[in-house]
This record gives sequence, structure tokens and C-alpha cells, in this order.
Amino acid sequence: MILLTGGLGYLGSHMAAQIIEQGHEVVLVDNLSNSQFAVLDRLSKLTGRVIPFVQIDVRDKAGLQQVFSQYPITQVVHFAGSKSVNESIQQPLDYYDNNVNGLISLLYVMKEAQVKTIVFSSTAAIYGEPEALPIPESSRQAPITPYGRSKQICEQVLQDLAHAEKGWKIAVLRYFNPAGAHPSGIIGEVPNGIPNNLVPYIAQVARDERPFLQVFGSDYNTVDGTGVRDFIHVQDLIDGHSKALAWLATQPQVFDTFNLGRGEGVSVKQMLDAFSKAVGREIPYKVVARRDGDSASVYADASHANALLGWQATRTVDQMAVDTWRFYENLV
Ligand code: UD1
Repeated sequence: MILLTGGLGYLGSHMAAQIIEQGHEVVLVDNLSNSQFAVLDRLSKLTGRVIPFVQIDVRDKAGLQQVFSQYPITQVVHFAGSKSVNESIQQPLDYYDNNVNGLISLLYVMKEAQVKTIVFSSTAAIYGEPEALPIPESSRQAPITPYGRSKQICEQVLQDLAHAEKGWKIAVLRYFNPAGAHPSGIIGEVPNGIPNNLVPYIAQVARDERPFLQVFGSDYNTVDGTGVRDFIHVQDLIDGHSKALAWLATQPQVFDTFNLGRGEGVSVKQMLDAFSKAVGREIPYKVVARRDGDSASVYADASHANALLGWQATRTVDQMAVDTWRFYENLV
């Protein structure tokens, strides 16, 4: 049985749908800090299954111990964590506490339960301003926000643990820019306040909830002057997790880190065009000043995941736009 922490969040819910479909048993835990209980119903509808769910915070060790004693867990995918870059600058203690202490609490409980396989959600934010493109895993790490630094510390904790104790099987996955939704339109990234990230913002403009997209700068040295990122379809990202779990199962013990991206840069304008096509009308935008801390271009060298996990992203930016829009159209 696979434990998904943050199981009702954007990535956790897509992972749950996929591995249930593959025939695995899952148990989800989530503290509902950035997710909704209603997602559990949507997952049940999607999979036709009753899915075990426990509402706890991963920092609650006693609660986690209870989950491990109640369910025959053999592998863990740890999605639970705080991910807003802006918020992390305002509330660094909360971010270090939730992300770092959450992981440590989980690892203590896993160790006690003799469960030593974990896939960890990390981020391309670990690299900061890229020193070269595409970015390989060995690239310099220079995160510029508490969010990025909290993930960097987590990676270090995992690496030190794998070094110190036998038997741990650990895959760290560094996500580039997840986008898109499940093709059913039933689950997706549920909007929470004013989005910082590009794709949810565009979707809200498309729904007329906001008047226009602010394009942060059009004077970058890129294909059309707007920022370039490595957007990756959430279903591809989740495929990467499934492959990582399968690969870990073949290893006696291991620690390794993988970039998950398409390895291709897509500009803000290109994403906007893909969305306009999906929605069937032009999406209004205004070019404004650059956003502090943004790089011109960020995209992955994902060849390591391809070589070891046999993984490669296959879905296009058009698919990300179409699937995101289907989900938003279904939202009430
Ligand atoms: C941001 C975070 C990064 C985090 C990632 C995923 C910053 C500086 N970086 O990355 O640490 O890992 O989210 O959560 O916040 N854009 C607009 N208008 C908008 C929103 C975005 O033009 O309203 C542009 C940005 O300038 C950028 C691109 O769209 O060029 C993507 O932005 P975003 O979705 O926020 O992702 P990142 O900047 O890559």
C-alpha cells in the first residue's frame, strides 16, 4: 500500500487517480491547508473506489504512527508541503517548520515502521538563477527564497539519512512548472485566492474572474521577449512518480535526484496563445514590469530520469491548456 501525503492536493490527487487505476492500494493523508475535502469525493467518482483518507498534519507524529499501524504501508510519496514562493518570504518560519519538520516527522515514523521507500517532491527553485541551460541535476544550487531553501534542506536531510542508514530507497524529484489537469476534467489545480503562477492566473482571466493577465516583462532575451519556462503536464509529472516507485522497488538501497521537465522552454506568450486556442477566444493581457526574482529562461535537462527511470514527458503545451480549461469549465 502506498501512502500519499498531501493526497488531496494538486499533485497528490492526480497521483492517487493514477496509481489506483494501476491497481495499487493507497491511503491519503492531508491537513487540508491548501486542498479541499471535496476532492476525495471527486476521486471516488473518478476511480469508482472508496479511498482511505486521514485528515492529519505530517508534523503530528502520533497521528502518523496511527496511520502506519492501521494500514500496511510499504512506500511513501511525500507531496505535503507549502509551495507559495511569496508566502514563504512573508512567513519563513512557517515554511521551514512545515516543509522541513514535516519531512523529519514523517521519516522518524517511517523508520520506526521499517518503511524505507520514499519519493520526495522537490523543485527547480533549488537552482535559482540557472548557470547554464538546460539545467542538469548537478547544476549549482542557489535558491533565492525560503521556499526553495526549505526544499534544499529537505533534500540534504534525505541524502544524509541515506548515507547514515542502510536500506533507504529515496528518489528526489525536482519539478519544473506543473500545469494541466486530469483529462476527465474532474480533478485539477483548485484555485486558492489570487494565483502567483502563470497557468492558474490565465485560467481565471479566461473565466472572466480577472480582467487581464499581467505579463511580467517582454524585454527578456528570449524568443519573443517574455519569460521562458519548462511547463510540464501534471499527468507526465505523475508518470514520473510511478516510474520512480517502480525503479526504487528494484534497488537494494539508493538515493538519487531527478529533474522532471519536458526539457523544452515555452514562453509566457506561447502559453497564452495555447490557452486562447483552447478557450476559443483571445485572452486579454498587458505587459508590465518584470517580477523580482524571475529568470529569463528556465528549463530542464531531464535526461537522467529518461536514462534511469525510462521516463519522458509526452504531452504538449496545447494539451496542458485544453485539460486545464476543461477542469475550469467544470468548476462551479
Ligand atoms: C515560480 C517560483 C518558483 C516556483 C514555481 C512553481 C518565483 C520567482 N518563482 O516559478 O520558485 O518553484 O513558481 O511554484 O516566484 N508570469 C506572468 N504573469 C503572471 C504570472 C507569471 O507573466 O501573472 C510569468 C513569470 O514572469 C514567468 C512565467 O510566467 O516568466 C512563469 O511564472 P510562474 O508560473 O510564477 O512560475 P516560475 O516563475 O517559474
